[in-house]
Amino acid sequence: MRPFVIVNCAMTADGKIAGRCRRQVRISSQEDLDRVKVLRASCDAILVGVETILADDPHLTVGGHPPERNPLRIILDSNGRTPDEAKALDSRARTLIATADACSRTWAGAETIRCGRGRVDLAALLPALSERGVKRLLVEGGGEVISSFFEGGFVDRYCIFLGSLILGGRDSPTPVDGEGFPDDQPRRLRLTEVTRLGDGALLSYEVLDDNTKT
Ligand SMILES: NC(=O)c1ccc[n+]([C@@H]2O[C@H](COP(=O)([O-])OP(=O)(O)OC[C@H]3O[C@@H](n4cnc5c(N)ncnc54)[C@H](OP(=O)(O)O)[C@@H]3O)[C@@H](O)[C@H]2O)c1
Repeated sequence: MRPFVIVNCAMTADGKIAGRCRRQVRISSQEDLDRVKVLRASCDAILVGVETILADDPHLTVGGHPPERNPLRIILDSNGRTPDEAKALDSRARTLIATADACSRTWAGAETIRCGRGRVDLAALLPALSERGVKRLLVEGGGEVISSFFEGGFVDRYCIFLGSLILGGRDSPTPVDGEGFPDDQPRRLRLTEVTRLGDGALLSYEVLDDNTKT
């Protein structure tokens, strides 16, 4: 058993999720931010990688919701690099930091779960999240983490907001980075929705049974 996994992120018209300095850039329209708020509120947990915490320092909460109604915040952080002062450790919601087995660091503002040698093992983490009552999991990035979810065959829905701006940069992050899949084994999607949201568009895809299972 694992949660239903939705990947959501905002991308520029040239396929970047941040600029060459890898710092947060506003890509979403106001209409998209409103959509993401509703999406977050519909999920039991919101997950990001530690590089997103270090680059963007997000709260990962639904504005206006009390802590008990906010989704659980989950950080993939194999070696315990999340700063004690990270906003995702504040009291606005509960936080779970997933580390590798060898990491012994703890945080005052978070619970920890140890799973995986070297790097957090998603195949072990996801059933553990199900056991904690996480039925719908929202993965918000960045590109390394989203790549690992696709690699493991763990993505059910992929939502991309396409913003009307260009950032360029050969090293700027994209929604799915990682090592990349072999040319003859791309992950196949089915387009289920195209919606104009202000000066941008939301594309939603269902992830077809992927090649890792064949
Ligand atoms: N536009 C958007 O919607 C959006 C959303 C989020 C982020 N961003 C941008 O994305 C960039 C950060 O993305 P990123 O790709 O550099 O990093 P990331 O995906 O946020 O974090 C990657 C890190 O997570 C840790 N990790 C632990 N277990 C992992 C696993 N199983 N698979 C993958 N990673 C795992 C690894 O560090 P350890 O080995 O130390 O554990 C890894 O280096 C920033 O520029 C941010 O602004 C954009």
